[in-house]
Amino acid sequence: MSIWRVQGGYPLEGSLTIQGAKNAVLPVLAATILTGSRTELTNVPDLRDVEASLNVLRRLGCTVQRQDDVVTVDSGGLTDFYIPRELTGQMRSSVIFLGAVLARCGQARIAMPGGCELGPRPVDLHLAAMRALGAEVSTENGEIVCRADGLTGGAVELALPSVGATENAMIAACAARGTTVITGAAREPEIVELQGFLRALGAEMEGAGSSVITVRGFSPAERVGWRVMPDRIAAATMLCACASAGGQVELRGVDPDHIQSVSDVLAAMGADVRAGTRRVSIRCDGRLRAGGTIVTGPYPGFPTDAQPLMMAASLKADGTTVFVENIFSCRYRQAAQMVRMGADIDVSGRRAVVRGVARLHGAEVLAEDLRGGAALIIAGLGAEGQTVIMDRGHVARGYEGLDRALTALGAQIEFVK
Ligand code: EPZ
Repeated sequence: MSIWRVQGGYPLEGSLTIQGAKNAVLPVLAATILTGSRTELTNVPDLRDVEASLNVLRRLGCTVQRQDDVVTVDSGGLTDFYIPRELTGQMRSSVIFLGAVLARCGQARIAMPGGCELGPRPVDLHLAAMRALGAEVSTENGEIVCRADGLTGGAVELALPSVGATENAMIAACAARGTTVITGAAREPEIVELQGFLRALGAEMEGAGSSVITVRGFSPAERVGWRVMPDRIAAATMLCACASAGGQVELRGVDPDHIQSVSDVLAAMGADVRAGTRRVSIRCDGRLRAGGTIVTGPYPGFPTDAQPLMMAASLKADGTTVFVENIFSCRYRQAAQMVRMGADIDVSGRRAVVRGVARLHGAEVLAEDLRGGAALIIAGLGAEGQTVIMDRGHVARGYEGLDRALTALGAQIEFVK
């Protein structure tokens, strides 16, 4: 069990460069399997989920090296198509390897990802997409089993704009004969990033960022280099941290468009948010106003991953903030922990009503998922006294040295592994 100790009451001051995006690099790492050649990725964040992905690639027979933020994958030596439970248990989103392994090997066997802290994580849309490309798909004693004597391009109709299912379809379609048209696709920036990477690998693909993505063919490139995009949720985390602690922070390397929905809410709360070229700055003096009703939804809607973060930033805002969480069924676990710090939150189903309080006090609290853990750290920055956050490694899954980043901005925070 790791422990975060946060001493509240210190405003944040300074600037920092945002880490590479977890939710962009994970599908990109899976896609390196497609070519059987060498890929060099830069700006790769140092995260537990990335380490878990590198272990999957090694287990499949790829050669993987890491030096600081540079990861080199040579998938020429790939010999296996089986990802066992001891690996999928380490990283819930291991299902992202399905399309790539099936495309490369003609078969895939992946232990089903366990349910996760956010509620059930079904994979029916992923499996339907593989079937639409001609694979035989079954689930046998907790494992996904796919086989295909060659994939055939066709219509992949996603009933929900699932980010992971869209990514699996894009990757698998690269190995399909003929054209694939994916409709109902997710529109997240990470989808656009994956299209860019797949094009660099040799794919003929267009439409990412819209609901319709067309894949016409694939001629594998030999050696590919790619720089991972900045993490928009890590950026949202730092903006909400400043809203909670007060002060002035400038984020570098981030695309302001990618966090527009979060910036808009913070501006409505009275924060001074300014966008520049690949930078966003925020200044928060005095008490913020409540942000109204915040409804999460697929991009470009308000991101579900930022809901816990914005909840933390709203705890002392003047007025009532209503959250409606439409993406995951169990994403308010941080609320009960915040109430231990003096917050006033009522959760019922998809709605959480936050009534702003004048002050929060430190407490001992438990991180139960990645963004909930980050939210408790944010709440601690704005609380009186010390907050101790017990964490079973959740935060390190998605944040690279969050304690170092916040300390550099003036926070009093200590992380004990
Ligand atoms: C990705 O998860 C992100 N993870 C999540 O970030 C993010 O919260 C989520 O997209 C939504 O934006 C990565 O990219 C690694 P989905 P993913 O498939 O792909 C339902 C974080 O904190 N669904 O878009 O798993 C599902 O239950 C993580 O960084 C099905 O019903 O999300 C959910 O309600 C958390 N059937 C909704 O769709 C399926 O086959 C959205 O899920 C797949 C999903």
